[in-house]
Formats: sequence, C-alpha cells, structure tokens
Amino acid sequence: MDTPVYDFGMIGLGVMGRNLLLNMADHGFAVSGYDKDPAKASLLESAATPGTKVKGAASLAEFVAGLKTPRRVMMLVPAGPIVDAVTNELLPLLEKDDIIIDGGNSHFTDTQRRLNALQDKQVHFIGMGVSGGEKGARFGPSIMPGGDVSAWKALQPILEAVSAKVDGSPCVAYMGNGAAGHYVKMVHNGIEYATMQLISEVYDLLKRGCGFSNDALHEIFKQWNEGELRSYLIEITRDIFLQPDEFSKERLLDMIVDRAGSKGTGKWTAQDAMDLGIPVPTIDVAVSMRDLSFYAEERKQAAILYKHVVRPVTDKQFTKQVHDALYCSILLCYAQGIAQLQKASVDLKMDIPVADVIRIWRGGCIIRSSILDLILPLLKKDKTATHLLLHKKVAQQIRKRTPALRKVVRQAVASRIPASATLSALSYLESFSSEKLPVNLIQAQRDYFGAHTYQRTDREGTFHTNWQSAG
Ligand code: 6PG
Repeated sequence: MDTPVYDFGMIGLGVMGRNLLLNMADHGFAVSGYDKDPAKASLLESAATPGTKVKGAASLAEFVAGLKTPRRVMMLVPAGPIVDAVTNELLPLLEKDDIIIDGGNSHFTDTQRRLNALQDKQVHFIGMGVSGGEKGARFGPSIMPGGDVSAWKALQPILEAVSAKVDGSPCVAYMGNGAAGHYVKMVHNGIEYATMQLISEVYDLLKRGCGFSNDALHEIFKQWNEGELRSYLIEITRDIFLQPDEFSKERLLDMIVDRAGSKGTGKWTAQDAMDLGIPVPTIDVAVSMRDLSFYAEERKQAAILYKHVVRPVTDKQFTKQVHDALYCSILLCYAQGIAQLQKASVDLKMDIPVADVIRIWRGGCIIRSSILDLILPLLKKDKTATHLLLHKKVAQQIRKRTPALRKVVRQAVASRIPASATLSALSYLESFSSEKLPVNLIQAQRDYFGAHTYQRTDREGTFHTNWQSAG
C-alpha cells in the first residue's frame, strides 16, 4: 500500500460533496472522495482544477488507506439512516483519534445519539452544518461545526481556508457542545424558511396587488439589494424575475407550480422551539404555508366557493412601505431564531456562542444579509443573552418601520392577499411589547373547567376558585 497522501476525505460525491472537495483542493489540500456510484468519482477527478491533488477512490478501503492520520473523513450523504450505515461501514477501518464529520442536515438529536454511541470508540465525531448551496460549497460556504473541541482544532485550518470570508474573517467557528453545529444549522434553516415566506408574500402583494410585471419586480428587488435589504435571498429573487423559460415565451417563474417542497429542517426548528417554550411564530407560519400550498385541488374549489377576488392596491407609496415592512419582519425573524439559540444554549447545555453564529452567518450562507451587521455588535457586547428586541438600536430600527408594517398588513387584508408571515411578525412584535396580555382570561377558563389554578396580581400564592355558573 502506498503512503497515505490525502489531507481530507469525503464520502458522498453529490453536488455539495464534490464542490466542497474541489474548493479544498483549490486551497492547496490534497483531497480524496468516495461514492458508491463510480461515475461520481470520475466526475470529481475531471472537474478538478489542473495542478490540484484530487482523487476519486474506487473503494472505501482504498479511500481510507489513502488518508493521512489522524484521518479527517466527512460525510455529505442524505440525513437519516444512511449516516448511520456509512458510519458503521467506516468504523472498522478507522483508528484512534480519526475524525468523522457529518456535514449533512441531520436532526440534532440523531447527532447527539451518534456522539454518545461513539464515545467509547476513541474516534471523534463532529456534527457540522454547511450552508450556501452548490456555489457556496465551491467558493466559500458558511460552516457550523460543533461537538468535540479537539477535533474542531484539528479541522480549523482547512475549514477556515475554504469558508466564505467577510472583511477577511472566516465564516466558520466552533458552535458549541454536542450537537450544537446541527442545532445552529437547523435554526438557520428555520430563519431561511421564514424569510423566503416573507419574500413570497411581498412578491404576491406587488404582483397581484399592484400589478407589477416581472421586469418591474426585478427593478424593485435590484434597488432593494443595493440598500439596507441587501441579502442573498433578495439578490437571487431579483435574478429569478428575469429568467426566461426554455419551453414557452413566459418567464420561468410563471411556469413553476405553486407547491413548495421541504426536507424538514424548518419543521424541526418550529418543533424544537415549542419544546423549549420559545415562540417563533413566523417560522411556524412559514412551515404551515408550505404545507398549505400542497392543497392545490382544495384551493381551486375554495377560490370559487369563497369568491376569492384580489382587490388592487392603489396607494402610490406602497412599494416603499413594503420595503420597510420586509426589513422589519426579517429583523423580527432573526430575533425569533436568536431567542431560540439563546434558550437552546442553556437548556440543551450546548453553550452556543450566539455572537459567533451571527458573525459566520454574514457570509456564504443562505440567510446572509446586511441586517446581521446591525445585530452583530449588539450580541458581541451582550453578556446576558438579552432578547434582541430589547436592544435600543434594534428597537429604533423597528419603531421607524412599524407604521409601514401595519399599513402593509392592513393593505394585504383589504386586498385579500394572504400575508400570514408578515402578519405573524407584526403580531409577535405587538405581543412581545404588550405589558399586558389577555391570557388572564385563559387562566380563568383553565381554572373554571379543570381546577388548574392561577396566580393573582395583588398577592403571592396559587389560587383556585369554585366558579359560579350564571346560566
Ligand atoms: C443551505 C440550505 C440547505 C437546504 C435547502 C433545502 O443552507 O444551504 O439550507 O441546506 O437543504 O435550502 O431545504 P428545504 O428543501 O427544506 O427547503
């Protein structure tokens, strides 16, 4: 057997795995990849930049034998049982101190289970979120590793080299204990779902409400992307409006069926937020709206049954209001996601460095946006995990734009255009900033029918009342 020469190995040479390896190779690392499909190994080698060291291994044994020790082996395979199957195949071939990295979108509880199972094996395990899609993987993703600190140290130089950079700072950092890497990536995706839902509502308001063409929408998003809404999702939306269709004379966007798929990470975010007792209503709504989009036949029938007709928007200032409403609601989404991270950090003992999370989300990932530049310095200074909405600078930005957010919600209702995420962001703000909420009534009802007890405003203790029926 030849002496091992490869610095890093990848199992799973799909779009993400291949591009991340090519990125590493371009940064001077010798890399090797393995995939059950030999065609993918050939594709990897043929796509390599001339002069770089890239190998597509023919078997798992050859792949492992070619890696320098301690071996750094990353999996980019579909989340779920395949991760366990690959890990089990790998284990007999690995030695003490080798590192296995799961770079897929695994559920954080699976990652924790795998970490526990590997504890006695003397092999390190890192659960790592990678964001940025195909281009990100090739030219600089945002990378979210968590778990074993010594393994992170061994990976740090290579991950820093290949990650995206913002002002020279790499978009990778240690995200905390246990499954923190996958937890942070999950919340990233929850925010991704919410932001995409908000943008789609804005699209609907401007298209069906104002009657703007794709060209006009392109111009609006172009302008927005040059200002304070600058972000990856606004940028790609700008481009989507112009994409021609190869089969018809229409724009491609108008030929796409209105059913939004999902692989589950947004739902997991909402589910775990509920377990933690952290409200993330805009993420919840975003998941529900993707689900609702699949009721195409029912929607068609209901449109007739309920005589759903859109009323045009006439307000000339509306586009500007929509801009401000979108800024405000995206900021409110980040606030929800950050609150979830702060709580998970403590309750799940992950010790997540939330300011570092925001720092590495500023480049490479899907939710990168200039709004994060406002948030970062506040979190850096904040040692007590204060809710983002309680920071004066955030309050200033939100207060400036809430009149526009209210107007947009009113207009959406008047125009009969659904805007659930936008509305949820506003309601979240209104509830969060309500000194009093009407849930005293809920407590009274609970005590009435179930003797669940309540607390009083004027004295300590727990009370129960034998409520009198007036009927
Ligand atoms: C990223 C993305 C990515 C995710 C897709 C699809 O950060 O690069 O979050 O990891 O898999 O966006 O997610 P859905 O299919 O659930 O929309």
